[in-house]
Order: sequence, then C-alpha cells, then structure tokens
Amino acid sequence: MIPFNKLGWAFHRFGKRIYPQEVRQNLCYFLDTLPPEAKVLDVGAGTGVLCELSLACRDDLVLSAADPAEGMLQYCRESVHTVVAPAETLPFDNNSFDGVLMGEALHHFRNVDAALLEIKRILKPNGMLFIYDFNPKKFKGAFIAKSEILLGEPGNFFVPSELAEKLSSFGFQATIQQYGYRYTVHAKKGK
Ligand SMILES: C[S@@+](CC[C@H](N)C(=O)[O-])C[C@H]1O[C@@H](n2cnc3c(N)ncnc32)[C@H](O)[C@@H]1O
Repeated sequence: MIPFNKLGWAFHRFGKRIYPQEVRQNLCYFLDTLPPEAKVLDVGAGTGVLCELSLACRDDLVLSAADPAEGMLQYCRESVHTVVAPAETLPFDNNSFDGVLMGEALHHFRNVDAALLEIKRILKPNGMLFIYDFNPKKFKGAFIAKSEILLGEPGNFFVPSELAEKLSSFGFQATIQQYGYRYTVHAKKGK
C-alpha cells in the first residue's frame, strides 16, 4: 500500500504537476456550470491540490475535503473544511453539495460502487461530479496502473467508456474529455 499518511509533504510540494494546463482549464469549465457560492466536496482530496486549482478558477466556492489520510489533509488551506473519511462512507447529509471532485483518487478506492452511491447521495439533484484519472489502455496509464497494483493499491482504473457506462448505471450522465493517457469526466446526477 502507498503510505499516503506519510506522504503529505511530497504531494503538497509536487502534487500540482500531475495536472496539466488543459486539465486545469477543463476543471474551470466544469466549475463554471455550478451556482454562485457552490458547495463543493473534494473526495480523496489528499493535500487539497484540486481545491487549490478550483479556487484559481473561482474564488467564491465553499470547499470541503474528505480523505482517510489525516497526514495528507493537514496541508489543505485553512478555509477548506477537512474531514477524515473514506469515499465509501462520507459523513454528510443527503443532497448537501452542488459539486464533487475526484482527482486521481477513484482508482485508490477499495469499493468504487459504494463510493459512487455515497457521492450520488450527497450530491443535490442535478449536482455535478468531476473525475480526473488515467486510462489503463494507454501506455503510460498501464504503467501507472501496474506500478500501483505492485505497491498493493486496489488499482481500480477504468477505460473512459467503461467509467461512463458505470456512471450511467448509477444514474449519472457523463461526458468524457481525453488528454492522451489522462482523461476527465463531467457527470450530472439526475433529479
Ligand atoms: C494520488 S492521491 C491524490 C490526492 C489528490 N486528489 C491530488 O490530486 O493530489 C490519492 C488519495 O486518495 C486517498 N484515498 C485512498 N483510499 C481512499 C478512499 N477509500 N476514499 C477516499 N480517498 C482515498 C489517499 O489517501 C490519497 O490522498
């Protein structure tokens, strides 16, 4: 297993490098669809890299961050409300958030279906989910996937079309944007 609890300093220092400019821009397009002062939860937030990138797009967001590793969350900026929790059991009421973000986190979840059910539960009707992850069918994506599995991680990597299908089975309408071995998903929860 990757010892995330001890790696906060590294993600805090280098984590933004995993997000190329076009993905940051895509995140801004996603956030533009949310209402003023939208409530947004970053799931598997780590040190809050996606929260930082989101605030660079829009400074009116009300951000929360959930992650099981306290040693990662401690690097989030003070204005972000942090909660030590896995994606599979999120301590929030139903219909609490306008948006949920997941940046290179989904493949670490032990139970993806349980996590998607939780995210659906806490999103408001028509709430939006943003996912950024790696495509295991591309050379670099396959390398990352194999390395993580060797390290004892769950390695729940999805080909973009498979993830869109899975999201659809959970009642989300998903659109995919691919950037080589990386991709983003914008998924809308139904009413
Ligand atoms: C590669 S880091 C990404 C962190 C952050 N999203 C970023 O982009 O820098 C993966 C994160 O997933 C978290 N994680 C692992 N298992 C998880 C789970 N079941 N639920 C939520 N987060 C989890 C880890 O603690 C770690 O912070």
